[in-house]
Amino acid sequence: MTEIYADHAATTFPRPPEVVAAISDYLLQIGCNPGRGGYRRSLEAARLVYEARLFLAALFNVPRPEQVIFTPSVTYALNLLLKGLLRAGDHVLISSMEHNAVVRPLARLTGERGINVEILACRQDGTLDPLQVKRALRSNTRLVALTHASNVTGTILPVCEVGELLAGSGVLYAIDAAQTAGSERLDFMALNCDYLAFTGHKGLLGPPGIGGLVLSERAAELTLPLVEGGTGSRSEEEEQPSFLPDKFESGTQNIPGIAGLAAGIRLVASSGEISIARQKQELTGAFLEGLAALPGVIVYGTGDPQKMTAVVSLNIAGVDSGDLSFILEQCFSIMTRSGLHCAPLAHRTIGTFPQGTLRFSFGFGNTLADVRHILGALREIIREKQQIPE
Ligand code: ALA
Repeated sequence: MTEIYADHAATTFPRPPEVVAAISDYLLQIGCNPGRGGYRRSLEAARLVYEARLFLAALFNVPRPEQVIFTPSVTYALNLLLKGLLRAGDHVLISSMEHNAVVRPLARLTGERGINVEILACRQDGTLDPLQVKRALRSNTRLVALTHASNVTGTILPVCEVGELLAGSGVLYAIDAAQTAGSERLDFMALNCDYLAFTGHKGLLGPPGIGGLVLSERAAELTLPLVEGGTGSRSEEEEQPSFLPDKFESGTQNIPGIAGLAAGIRLVASSGEISIARQKQELTGAFLEGLAALPGVIVYGTGDPQKMTAVVSLNIAGVDSGDLSFILEQCFSIMTRSGLHCAPLAHRTIGTFPQGTLRFSFGFGNTLADVRHILGALREIIREKQQIPE
């Protein structure tokens, strides 16, 4: 039976051949450490990293490529900005759709540094009224951190509107683009944000183990690095360089990851995020339409493909989401993710804590035929479980 991968919100699979070739080319043809030697291979590795930075800066409309920092993951990028910025007495606003990558570092900082975290309640479909942010601002509000789109329901949060209302307020603004980089247009300047955290292995089609953070000039000054060490620059000094990107990039980087990410970005840029988003909306729309015709299926989120990424969470009355995911794989070769998706706060918001949901997420390589096959499988499971006549 043909495998259908519907867990692109976790990571993209299969990887485009261009991405695999770029990783292998680096390992076979270059293979050396950038910025650590004056020989040809080291210089070629440095050029590869610089080009990837340029691609990302162009994709996200970042004024200077040095404002793009490579990190091992989006979780690392979020930890970097939260732990590098926040100090005792700071007030932080987040939404109730945030992932544990934001919630857990903030919980630690609350205990260790005495920061104050306020959670803005989203509606049950995951949407947020941007005016809630405005109403919650205090004189000591240091940061507003919002996910661009929920990894549970796909719901897109009003990140542009919040950027507009924070302009000139002095409050720093962070956007977690884990679920949207590469599949929604992200314009760092237009978003008016200070931090844009992204991963390379989802919409940007790269391998796991590579992500990054874009910082505004003021954020770069105000934020301390999470890790210090060798940068290949100012080696005579004990202190970490203060300039970008070296301030935040110590140690040998994941160059195969960066090579694969650069190839992924090339593919994304050649299709364009708008066209990618449209294709995903078509799949999501067809899936939602099919689900509406199935008895006993509860779908969470807005139900509007225009207001969400290609992520659909559901439950089937009387069936555990884990069992459902297992049956889909065992009997139909369909891969999904069930449970709490590392986002218990989001599940509380949509009313599915602690049981969770079954999540389908579409991406590179999925087709309408996949959607039809998944709907057929769900129909069969429901018929079996509920003895619904054909
Ligand atoms: N955060 C990723 C997910 O939603 C791994 O599955």
